[in-house]
Amino acid sequence: MRAPVTTPPSEVRVALLGAGTVGAQVVRLMNERADDLAARAGAPLRLVGIAVTDVEREREPWIPRDLLTTDAEGLIADADVVVELIGGIDPPRALVHAAMAAGATVVTGNKALVAAHGPELHDAAAAADVDLYYEAAVAGAIPIVYALRESLAGDTVTEVLGIVNGTTNYVLDEMATNGSTFDDAVAQAQALGFAEADPSADVDGHDSAAKAALLASLAFHTRVPLENVPVEGIRGVTVEEMAAAQETGYALKLLAVARRTTSPDGISVRVGPTLIPADHPLATVRGAFNAVVVESEAAGRLMFYGQGAGGAPTASAVLSDLVAAAGHRVRGGQAPRESAYARLAPLPASSQRITARFDLEIDDRPGMLALVAAVLARHGISIEAVRQAAHTDPTAYGDELYDVFDDAYDGGSDRDRDPAASRESATLTITTHRTDEGTLAACLAELAGADGVRAVLPVRRVEGV
Ligand code: HSE
Repeated sequence: MRAPVTTPPSEVRVALLGAGTVGAQVVRLMNERADDLAARAGAPLRLVGIAVTDVEREREPWIPRDLLTTDAEGLIADADVVVELIGGIDPPRALVHAAMAAGATVVTGNKALVAAHGPELHDAAAAADVDLYYEAAVAGAIPIVYALRESLAGDTVTEVLGIVNGTTNYVLDEMATNGSTFDDAVAQAQALGFAEADPSADVDGHDSAAKAALLASLAFHTRVPLENVPVEGIRGVTVEEMAAAQETGYALKLLAVARRTTSPDGISVRVGPTLIPADHPLATVRGAFNAVVVESEAAGRLMFYGQGAGGAPTASAVLSDLVAAAGHRVRGGQAPRESAYARLAPLPASSQRITARFDLEIDDRPGMLALVAAVLARHGISIEAVRQAAHTDPTAYGDELYDVFDDAYDGGSDRDRDPAASRESATLTITTHRTDEGTLAACLAELAGADGVRAVLPVRRVEGV
């Protein structure tokens, strides 16, 4: 453990790596709030340099040009705290290691780096007896890392559900609210500056998966490798699907889901488009906002809501880490070390327990409902509800909603119909009770090949029910 500080330093030397959207706001806020930050940390925070790739580029007027350098390694050697806001794995990984080896505390907003290399970075921080902070890596301004790492250190977290990507929440909200297509909604997100020119890290779910791995690691005191987080993005979501979700009292959100499970024993972590009841707190999260709901044994439900991206909101998280790190330099003390003692097994996708909802496009003829129910029953999947909507002749029957409990339904009312009035095709929307993903996949494969089943449409997990 670091020795108590006997002669407090007169200042804390801060090196900034990267001066993009977030870095520029960190510089602005360090300038504007210098006195408050000094009072909170116990000594002035002095920005000793800003490493960038191009010192000539035009920048925000408050960026001191004389602090710009391309020599990140040289800058690190001169710092007490290194703030890494470059993003990506290389060169940040090597720079963070170099900083810690040189005795500097590291503050980073780099979710990809911490999610992919967290264990080695934590080990390096412990070996060098320095702090590693990464509040800005998950959900921007929302203090969820602190909450899980420190505030809930005495509790037992059972579940974390989060909207942790603002771009995708904006896109889905736009599709749900205004009926925009996926492509139009992405274009709007780009025009508003939420989405990158290449939005794939967001829309394919990889940004959320990195955050899910970090949240699960913190919540369950377990190392959660990124490759153990099954991920599905939102490219397959259609306006029609959004409308159908709304009609049935659900919202479709890209959720990061992390859950402690006992049967099988382990943790279940995943990212994907997920149906949640319209009255669930996460269903009310609009636009590019983020929110995380944590369930824990003693505290019960906690909800964190706020801006998950953007310069100033994310800089707020960086500065909170910076004040804490600087305070340790001045007064002694250290950040919590990595807590991975629980060593729970991240379950493979096929073993994860899910509630699923899917559509089957079927021939609308007698016996189809019974056939479908029989296939589900054969796989041991219990049906929670079935809804049937007709396509070609909506006046023949109204939409019919069958609430089917467990496997009791025998399809009788389908057979009671007059076949002469039968429509050409129908969509069955089936909601299951909890089953495991592997069983569901086998069942869906059988359904896809069944006589009279024309298509199996996207499968959505259901949470919050
Ligand atoms: N691109 C992310 C988002 C922010 O849209 O929320 C950075 O993680």
